[in-house]
Amino acid sequence: MELLNQMRTGKLGKDNQFDAVVTDPPYCSGAATKSARDADPASKYCQNGNRCGRPNFEGDHRDARSFEFWCTMWLTLARRHCKTSAYGLVFIDWRQLPLMTNIVQASGFAWKGICVWNKGRASRSPHKGYFRHQAEYIVWGTNGKVPKLKDRGPFDGVHSIAVKQADKFHITGKPTKLLRELVQVAPVGGLILDPFAGSGTTGIAAVHEGRRAVLFEQSEEYCEIAAKRLEAAEGEVK
Ligand SMILES: C[S@@+](CC[C@H](N)C(=O)[O-])C[C@H]1O[C@@H](n2cnc3c(N)ncnc32)[C@H](O)[C@@H]1O
Repeated sequence: MELLNQMRTGKLGKDNQFDAVVTDPPYCSGAATKSARDADPASKYCQNGNRCGRPNFEGDHRDARSFEFWCTMWLTLARRHCKTSAYGLVFIDWRQLPLMTNIVQASGFAWKGICVWNKGRASRSPHKGYFRHQAEYIVWGTNGKVPKLKDRGPFDGVHSIAVKQADKFHITGKPTKLLRELVQVAPVGGLILDPFAGSGTTGIAAVHEGRRAVLFEQSEEYCEIAAKRLEAAEGEVK
């Protein structure tokens, strides 16, 4: 809470400046019509609307213009608390990819590229006549110049990692292995911000990779899930 207050008042100390923002916001995706966009996330993002017992979440209803405006606001705020040359990595799907490349730049990050998360062929039932929607994307940039790293990288631009139900704690949860690869943009011991933590996967990955993370999440149910996962992960690395 103290950290959040420091962010709000712009008094974040030097020691708390972030080495990376790694986040997976609500995509506010789901077809072109208002009713499709306003549908609850489970029916948009889970096959046949089946949440497999995972809680639903809010904040996924914005239209294209308000999504771009809202994301630019929070990513600008996050970037202001980043170190020079810190990384910004934001997940997005194919529908919102063009907007997210605008958002990353409008928030002040220098846009450097797009990584692919290849979920594999089993990710969605194939539709006849369609190319499979088997990938999501990570738009990435840096707060100024790309750092000249000697201790890590180059990082893979394509991550082929299937979703395992036993490792999925959120209806749009990302694989821990994927986040473990992504958090390596921060140095060992470095500080990562995830303002849309969901079930806490970024934090779990940070624990396993020797990084630190600050997580925000608006759903109490998901905060509890994340807290339990973090406790278990911390127990595993001891
Ligand atoms: C796509 S999910 C993140 C899932 C996460 N990557 C995981 O592996 O579990 C986005 C999360 O952002 C949360 N959220 C939406 N609006 C928010 C806000 N304004 N502040 C904080 N969290 C928010 C939602 O409750 C949801 O859990």
